[in-house]
Formats: sequence, C-alpha cells, structure tokens
Amino acid sequence: MLILGIESSCDDTAAAVWEDSNELRSSVLSSQDAIHRPYGGVVPELASRKHLEAVYPAVVEALRKAAVTLGDIDLIAATQGPGLIGSLLVGFSFAKALAAARKIPFRGVDHMAGHILAIFLEEQRPDFPYVALIASGGSTSLYLAESHTSFSLLGRTRDDAAGEAFDKVAKLLELPYPGGPQVARLAQDWDGELIRFPRAWLDEQSHDFSFSGLKTAVLNHCNQCRQSGGTLPMEQICASFQEAVVDVLVEKTLRAAQQHNVHSIVLGGGVSANSRLRTVCAERCRQEGRQFFAPRPSFSTDNAAMIALAGYHSFLRYGPSDLTSDVYSRSSLG
Ligand code: KG4
Repeated sequence: MLILGIESSCDDTAAAVWEDSNELRSSVLSSQDAIHRPYGGVVPELASRKHLEAVYPAVVEALRKAAVTLGDIDLIAATQGPGLIGSLLVGFSFAKALAAARKIPFRGVDHMAGHILAIFLEEQRPDFPYVALIASGGSTSLYLAESHTSFSLLGRTRDDAAGEAFDKVAKLLELPYPGGPQVARLAQDWDGELIRFPRAWLDEQSHDFSFSGLKTAVLNHCNQCRQSGGTLPMEQICASFQEAVVDVLVEKTLRAAQQHNVHSIVLGGGVSANSRLRTVCAERCRQEGRQFFAPRPSFSTDNAAMIALAGYHSFLRYGPSDLTSDVYSRSSLG
C-alpha cells in the first residue's frame, strides 16, 4: 500500500510517499523560515499564503522522487490539527480534493500522533509501551504510547512550549529566527560556569511543564547585564538556559517512565533535534537501564513522512475520514 502524506500545520509545507512495507519512498520539505525571519516568528497569514503556493509543487516533487504517479497512491493522509488554522486548511483541503478526484480513501492525522510515531521511520524502533516526549515550537507534552493508535496524555506545558522558550530567548538576545538552533550553537561554545536559572518542577506528581518563569529570569539577567554597562555573555546565557530546559525535560520524562513502569523513552518534535537534550537523555536512560530512541533531526522536526505513517495506522484502525471533516487548532490527543 502506498500512502501520500501532506503536512502544513505551521510554516513548513511537506509531502512524502511511504510504503506500508516500511519503506520511505520520498520526503520533500519546503521551508518558510526566510519569509518569517524578518518578523522574528511565524506570521499566520503569510504562512497560509505560502502553503497555497508550495503544496502542489511539493506533492509533484514527492511523487517524482518516489518514481510513482498519483494513480499508484492508495491512501492520502494529511495533518488535521493541531496548528495554525489557515495553514492546516490549505494542506487538508488540498488532500481531500485530491482523494475525492482520484476516488481513493483520505485520512486526517493528528500532528502529535505523527511526532509520537516518527521513530518508526527509523531502523531502531521501540516496543510498546513507551513514553514519548514531544517538544516543539507549538507544544511540549508527555505521552504514554501503547500502540500505533493509542496514546494517553501524561502532561503538557502550562504556558510556553520548550521551542517557544528557545525562540523567545533567542529573540531577546537578538538572534535570528528560528532561535532554537542558534541558541544551541552558541551554547556549544561554552564550557565554563553556568548561571543558575530557575527550574519549574511544579508538584512532585505532576508531569506538566512551565517555561515562562525561566524565560523571564533570562530577560531579567540580560537587563541587569545591560544596566551594568557590560556586554552580554551570550554563550554563557545560552548554555545556562539550555541546561535549565534540558534538566526539566529529561527529569520529568524519566519520572513518567518510572511511574508507569515503562522501559523505553522516545523523543520527538523540533526541540528533540537539540544535541544536548539527546546526550543527557541518552545518558540518564543508560544509567537507569532504559532504552532511548530519537529520530534523526529531519524526522524530529515537522515532516510529511510521519504523517503518512501515522495516517496509515489510523486508517487501518478507524477507516477513512469523512470528506466533510474539518481541521482543529488543539490536539485531539488531550
Ligand atoms: O516540530 P517543529 O519543527 O515545528 C513546530 O513547532 O511545529 O519545531 C520547531 C521548534 C522551534 O521552536 C525551533 O526553535 C526548535 O524547534 N528547535 C530547536 C532546535 N532545532 C529546532 N530547539 C532547540 N535546539 C535545537 N537544536
């Protein structure tokens, strides 16, 4: 079975062809970073308009690279939510129209399910159940994954997502958008003493996150440095901020695994491209005798391969989506 996946939840237009024998035939991504960079963040209307331009060429390119035609495709899967409504509508409507015209089934896919399952695009795959930490620009959540279609939400951020915190800290340090990779790059150049920024542990039993206090602490520190007339110790600030985020993400993920007696940990979402997060999480898993999995960076950030894979599994379980179905801005996974 050949599945065409389409992703347009935020600022990347992506298309992929995936075969159910677990072979990725193609994965194409058209990034809008350059369009949003001057504004320091995603401008929703510009994002939707760019998706309109980019979705058709992305699909044509994905089919070409996979060496197939639309006539070979058995199922079309597209991101239904969560995300920016205007962006979602473009890819979702395009996919529904294509499926209707070809008289083949269509499946709407939850973007978070895509991230939770992206690890199955890799050769090293976990057994169920596993705990998945999905940390991106729009969400930071912990899930218990019990099958390809059964996920329970264990915790989520109460304010900023981890990627959002990275992007906001980058902005106040006047680094270009998207800020996560910039902060990570500067942090790598620091091996001195770290500034002790606060960690929001919340209460002992909670698997929720909070990053807004940390962001404010970084802002206050920058203001103090500026007022005292010194230059900002950029590398030190980036490394200290990153360490505070990584500490909380890793500790809470491991706690969730302990509490649910789960052996495997999976990372996903754009922030999981962060090498410090991978290193610390892998080391903690090794110490505790747990297995650690993270997809390669191009499958950690938004992509359509994970949407094709997740769409296939939800199609097997639930059948096709109705062609009158609508997009949503908040995840249906809780
Ligand atoms: O999952 P994603 O591609 O898109 C959505 O948010 O839907 O994640 C993008 C987020 C951005 O906030 C970006 O700054 C962050 O992931 N990010 C990183 C790194 N690479 C991307 N954050 C920290 N370290 C990185 N290396």
